[in-house]
Formats: sequence, C-alpha cells, structure tokens
Amino acid sequence: MRFDLITLFPDFFVSPLQTTMLRKGQERGALAFRVFDIRDYATDKHRVTDDTPYGGGAGMVMKVEPIVTALEAAAAGDPPPHRILLCPQGRPLDTAVARELARRPALAIVAGRYEGVDERVRAYVDEEISVGDYVLSGGEVAALVVVDAVSRFVPGVLGNDASALDESFSHGLLEYPQYTRPAEFRGAAVPDVLLSGNHQTIERWRREQALRRTTRQRPDLLERVELSEAERDFLRRLRNDGDE
Ligand SMILES: C[S@@+](CC[C@H](N)C(=O)[O-])C[C@H]1O[C@@H](n2cnc3c(N)ncnc32)[C@H](O)[C@@H]1O
Repeated sequence: MRFDLITLFPDFFVSPLQTTMLRKGQERGALAFRVFDIRDYATDKHRVTDDTPYGGGAGMVMKVEPIVTALEAAAAGDPPPHRILLCPQGRPLDTAVARELARRPALAIVAGRYEGVDERVRAYVDEEISVGDYVLSGGEVAALVVVDAVSRFVPGVLGNDASALDESFSHGLLEYPQYTRPAEFRGAAVPDVLLSGNHQTIERWRREQALRRTTRQRPDLLERVELSEAERDFLRRLRNDGDE
C-alpha cells in the first residue's frame, strides 16, 4: 500500500518513517511512502502557501492552488490514491475506518496547518478524517496516526498479522491484561491461570477480563459487540455483584 503525504513540513516524517513497524513494512515491500512538499507547488516568486482570511479574523489560511496542485501530482500516481483531508470536522478514525482504509491500494493525505485550508480544497478530496475531538496545531501528527493505525491492517506489515486482530477494539472490546516475566513483582503476582498452560482456560479468562475491563472503562462499546449467551450471563453476574 502507498501513502502520499502532502505537507508543509516534510522533515516531520523522516524519523517516523524510518523507525520500527513503518520501516519494516517498507523493507517487506508492503508499504511505500511519498512525501509531497506543498511549497514545491507554490508558483509565485516567494513560494507563498498561506494568506490572511477573507472577511478578516485571526491567523492564516492555507492557499488552495498549491494544495490542489500537490494533490493532482499525487493523483497521477499508479494506482491513483483515495484522497483524504485531515480535519477535526472529518469522519472520526476508529478501528473500522482504519481497516476500511487499509483495503485501498493508495491514500493521499493532506496535512493542514495554521487556521486550516481554504474551503475550496474540499472539492478535491474524497473524504475528511478526524483523529479525535480536539484540535492539533497541524495535520502531520494526525497523518502519522492514520498511517500507523491503517498500516497495522495491511497484510505483511506486522511480523505476525494476528497481532492486529487481537487488540483492543478489534473484537469490539478492550484488550485483556497482559503480563510478562517476572512472575512476581513487589508482591504483585501474575494470575495463576496464565501459568497453568491450559489454553482453553486461558482463552476464557482473557475474554472475561476483556468484558470486565470494557464494562468498567468503555461500557458504550458493549452496545455494539456480539456476545454469546454465556458472555451475556457473565456480564449480568458482573453487574449484579457490582464487581465491574
Ligand atoms: C489548528 S488546526 C485548524 C483547525 C480549524 N481552524 C478548525 O477549527 O477546524 C490545523 C490543521 O491541523 C489538522 N488537525 C487539527 N486537529 C485535527 C484532528 N483532530 N484531526 C485531524 N486533523 C487535525 C488539520 O489538518 C488542520 O487543518
């Protein structure tokens, strides 16, 4: 899968794209990145990419022409990318959206800055994506969030593709507690069941822990998850005992 990152700050991506999962994804041939510097697409002498807002107001707005020309350069790539504008007003990113985007052969992602982009940019993208209900100072951080979350679902990126399928949200629940050596740390012991070697019991314990944790920390998720009769029973007992 290819990512075309469209930004005013290409250097921002140097280290993250050369580190851990994203580096390995490229080495394995599962990921490719192109970074487009918006300034290269400004046509005036001073390569201006922002200007004051019409109608007045604080801050600067990113100009439409350099962004659209950069997007067109990316869109000329083969395969043509699905074009995304990062924006706090966009479709919220979650696991389902990340999985859906991972099925695209290429994504072009526009990172805004300042007060955002000229409204007319919106006509040149396929959708807007938000990484959460807060405002970042620039879209580069948001672009990395999208790249990371999506890449995990691209076959061949994670050493063990099963990892992405067994994490918080992947089954609609938060993940169960994880432990590694030592078996005891300052009096806190690893639950016996995890040392038992009985995979069936461990699986059941993990699922119950995931249910317990989700009930306590994100009860809203339980409204959308499919549960077996035994699991619904477990939840009822949990709630009746007041032991969430
Ligand atoms: C300071 S923000 C502009 C916010 C804009 N004035 C507003 O109120 O919607 C600058 C850029 O950061 C990016 N950004 C900020 N918060 C974001 C979020 N929650 N999700 C995705 N992108 C975000 C966008 O690309 C945006 O154009």
